[in-house]
Amino acid sequence: KRLILIGPPGSGKGTQSPIIKDEYCLCHLATGDMLRAAVAAKTPLGIKAKEAMDKGELVSDDLVVGIIDEAIQKPSCQKGFILDGFPRTVVQAEKLDEMLAKKSTKIDKVLNFAIDDVILEERITGRWIHPSSGRTYHSKFAPPKVPGIDDVTGEPLIQRKDDTAAVLKSRLEAFHKQTEPVIDYYNKKGAVVNLHAEKPPKEVTLEVEKALS
Ligand code: AP5
Ligand code: ZN
Repeated sequence: KRLILIGPPGSGKGTQSPIIKDEYCLCHLATGDMLRAAVAAKTPLGIKAKEAMDKGELVSDDLVVGIIDEAIQKPSCQKGFILDGFPRTVVQAEKLDEMLAKKSTKIDKVLNFAIDDVILEERITGRWIHPSSGRTYHSKFAPPKVPGIDDVTGEPLIQRKDDTAAVLKSRLEAFHKQTEPVIDYYNKKGAVVNLHAEKPPKEVTLEVEKALS
């Protein structure tokens, strides 16, 4: 399966991805995670991406298209993949179609994490992450056993630099202006399944499983 997860910040893409990945043995390609790793490692890519990310704006299409083009060539991604946070502009979607056409494949399904903006601030400001595994917690909705500590490794959790109410505003603006047209792009191809992303995580998982069965 070749899947795209699309939805605003905090809609649950990163929460559902590991479950889908394990169930269907797919590789999980999250451009946000890859960019944050590049920023932390201060690679040339990370240096170019940091300013836009801190402001909650999108990184340039060329940079992210390059990352994905390289990643989907990996042997582990040949059976299928989950794209989490890509494509986020119509240009990125068109480039992705070109990449896949070269391999005579296409996207099977686009899962649209539909949710009202007002719910997202609480989700974003309460999020805690274990950076090396990507495990995600929420102080209220999915708390770790010990506050600030990863359940599995005992290592400290961190908050993302862009997870503030102020930066969330820019991220939502970018989503509505630049990413919503991508949903229309795939709707025209009949590939979109709409999920009720405001429901509790387990119910969203059931909707995902139904969409993929
Ligand atoms: P990215 O990392 O992709 O961030 P995002 O799209 O803003 O999405 P989030 O990771 O914030 O949300 P999520 O849907 O994964 O939520 P989660 O499941 O963690 O991108 C970051 C930046 O990188 C961008 O701003 C941009 O600068 C750059 N970038 C990345 N890709 C790019 C691209 N293609 N082009 C250009 N620039 C790009 O859930 C959130 C919280 O809610 C968690 O605490 C979780 O525990 C909780 N939660 C989840 N589901 C539920 C539920 N059902 N009920 C209650 N709580 C829940
Ligand atoms: Zn995410």
